Amino acid sequence: MNTNLVAAIFMLVVSGIIWASTTTNNPTWTGNRNICVGECYTSWKEANDGGIASLEQSKQEALAAASPEALGEAYYGQCVACHGGNGEGGIGPQLQGQAAADIMAKLTAYRGGEQRGAQSAMMWPVAKPMSDDNISNLAAYIASM
Ligand code: HEC
Repeated sequence: MNTNLVAAIFMLVVSGIIWASTTTNNPTWTGNRNICVGECYTSWKEANDGGIASLEQSKQEALAAASPEALGEAYYGQCVACHGGNGEGGIGPQLQGQAAADIMAKLTAYRGGEQRGAQSAMMWPVAKPMSDDNISNLAAYIASM
């Protein structure tokens, strides 16, 4: 059999498949498209608390309503390895029992790159990204331990 003939038959079969599939397309069928408008979107919004914007809004409200202690506790997750789950100390000194104002002063010093103890270099990268809010939330949580 000659290869041109094989190629021609192949082309014919492929075009036949394409023709058959396009002519049997149902133009009103939306099942496989990423479209959720009208009724679909309305029911999605009902199921999702009023849509993306209000989902985001309630998330922000929950965050704003959280107490400084709760926010500090969430941040404290990255301190546990060195200061212990209850601030009892380990690699780093004990934090439990310290007043909020002291914690704030110490963290602010580390954030500014100040040398306090012999191992301050371990605290500089930890404190560097902290905002004032982060520091006061952490202080509130540590003071409540
Ligand atoms: C990699 C270990 C490590 C991590 C993680 C770490 N610390 Fe420290 N921390 C230390 C060390 C070591 C010191 C002692 C530094 C020095 O010599 O000045 C210290 C000191 C401190 C001090 C001063 C304590 C004192 O009484 O002088 C505070 C406050 C503190 N850390 C808070 C935190 C908080 C809050 C976090 C989490 C956001 C944290 N640290 C994460 C190791 C760590």
